[in-house]
Amino acid sequence: MTSRNDDRVHDAERALRRRLDRCGNWFQRLQFPYKTHVIRESGLLSYLSPDGTLVDVGCGTGIVSCLVALALPDKRVIGVDTDRRRLDWCTRLADGIPNITFLHADVQHYTFPPIQEAVCLDVLHHLRPTAQDRLVFSIVANLQPGGRFILFEVDTNPAQKWKYWMSLVVDHVLYPFQERANFRRAEALLDLFRRAGLETEIVQPLPSPIVAPILYVGRRLAGDGAVAPSSSGPAGC
Ligand SMILES: C[S@@+](CC[C@H](N)C(=O)[O-])C[C@H]1O[C@@H](n2cnc3c(N)ncnc32)[C@H](O)[C@@H]1O
Repeated sequence: MTSRNDDRVHDAERALRRRLDRCGNWFQRLQFPYKTHVIRESGLLSYLSPDGTLVDVGCGTGIVSCLVALALPDKRVIGVDTDRRRLDWCTRLADGIPNITFLHADVQHYTFPPIQEAVCLDVLHHLRPTAQDRLVFSIVANLQPGGRFILFEVDTNPAQKWKYWMSLVVDHVLYPFQERANFRRAEALLDLFRRAGLETEIVQPLPSPIVAPILYVGRRLAGDGAVAPSSSGPAGC
């Protein structure tokens, strides 16, 4: 990451911290250290263009959306989530940030606008593998040529295996009523990137004390490099 991006992240973090103190709730405050850690460690900002539209797919508490919008004031940020309660928290946190919008929608049926980037942090595994495939294809179909899909997902085979089990536990505690988390092997996700027409730029395990996330960055090829999603389902999960 460039030092200019470092400065932007630090400034945005400070501004967001002040907002959290003013109008955040306990869950946003709890998540803030981990999410900002992931943003810093991944160098997220270095993959984003200064303008254009970014969709935060499954924006949750809105921390990532708000940080990006604060750090890149010329970018339009759209956070999409199915959870109305969280969207209320997001709206409160983002009050007065002009370049951010939150929408209530299921990303499986959301009509993406033309986008420069989509960020999907800890969300894809909430969908079944075939739905994951469809979502990534629909994102890529709306990415500008050269645009990026930035995915954070759990490493199913980390060096410290207990971190994988910890991911399952955390997911179950946070989402007790949904079906099991559909974490997929890195090979399956990279195969999905290839089929959707993304050129993989980065596959980077991120340091984290409790769980083991991996950053995947794919760039849309200039032409239409996509292969139609398979009706017989995705490659091995
Ligand atoms: C683990 S949270 C991650 C939130 C956020 N990306 C972050 O990193 O802070 C997963 C989020 O995805 C949302 N989600 C799950 N399935 C979704 C869907 N089909 N459409 C939109 N949002 C969804 C959930 O409501 C939840 O807020």
